[in-house]
Amino acid sequence: MELKKVVVAGGGVLGTQIGLMCAYCGKDVTFWLRSEGSIARTQPKIERYSALMLQDLLTAKAMVGNPMGKFLYPKGLIRSWDGITAEAIDALAEQAKKNFAEKIHIELDMAKALKGADVVIESMSEDPKAKIGVYTAMKDLLDEKTILLTNSSTMLPSTFAAYTGRPEKYLALHFANTIWKNNTAEVMGHSGTDPEIYNETVKFADEINMIPLQLHKEQPGYILNSMLVPFLSAAQALLATGVADHETIDKTWQLATGAPAGPFKILDIVGLETAYNINQMKPDAQVEGSVTNRIGKLLKEKIDKGETGVNAGVGFYDYRK
Ligand SMILES: NC(=O)c1ccc[n+]([C@@H]2O[C@H](COP(=O)([O-])OP(=O)(O)OC[C@H]3O[C@@H](n4cnc5c(N)ncnc54)[C@H](O)[C@@H]3O)[C@@H](O)[C@H]2O)c1
Repeated sequence: MELKKVVVAGGGVLGTQIGLMCAYCGKDVTFWLRSEGSIARTQPKIERYSALMLQDLLTAKAMVGNPMGKFLYPKGLIRSWDGITAEAIDALAEQAKKNFAEKIHIELDMAKALKGADVVIESMSEDPKAKIGVYTAMKDLLDEKTILLTNSSTMLPSTFAAYTGRPEKYLALHFANTIWKNNTAEVMGHSGTDPEIYNETVKFADEINMIPLQLHKEQPGYILNSMLVPFLSAAQALLATGVADHETIDKTWQLATGAPAGPFKILDIVGLETAYNINQMKPDAQVEGSVTNRIGKLLKEKIDKGETGVNAGVGFYDYRK
């Protein structure tokens, strides 16, 4: 059975993108928000991200016939680049405008929002108390059939399963920022997740143009961050201990592996505040003279100057030119 009615709880950066992606793919989407103030904050995000999605879609027309096109096209917006035409992209854009206009609803009343939902995607702030509060409030309002998914980046579904009233229908579906281009969806259950529900979630991820990446067990950081965080930490340690400058470290990585970006370019994209927060969670962050402590100081100095990465125009590199 197709999962058609989607509720997104939380209209922040990721929640908005997830809701738009689902609507783009023809799902009926309701954002459940907690207040009029939340609506005022979410509405402009819906407008901004839907405009960016349409812009990236139409920009892709210029890549039709270009051999680089297959590497650069927005993979969440165009399912297959093989044989794509400018006319087909125009048709996708027309359908997207229609879907954004007709398939997106905002609801403050939780009971109304949840009624009949096939899937609820929780994408609220990374605050365990807020998540527990909302799961507890939802528990008796959800339909029997509803699958409850969390987009939490750092917390495990087993932490919350007991609060949901439906542990067997609860698991993580973890998206990446700029979902319409970086269309990965890590699917991670906890030990009590029903395998059939897990498989339905994998199918749902595919229906919303994501590439489902299946984890067989719980893993803090999922697959990507389990690799990325140690990699970025190793690069920062080389810089903080004075082994090499950031450009040389990036160049080494790129030349040796053929990767399009090195760790410091990636850090600029992730944002230095996020990198700082991750670093400060390590046990030796406050130990004067430790490598972690030195990394923290280096990042803090840049953050205090406003050099927080691509979004600020400057990070390790200058993007203002
Ligand atoms: N930002 C990313 O790059 C990224 C990537 C993947 C996953 N995530 C995950 O997605 C989730 C949301 O992250 P985000 O970056 O969109 O955060 P955000 O700060 O942009 O948005 C959080 C949203 O949660 C809402 N919220 C907070 N407390 C609430 C409550 N008690 N009731 C109802 N709504 C509440 C806020 O109003 C806001 O709309 C987090 O779990 C995060 O780990 C984020």
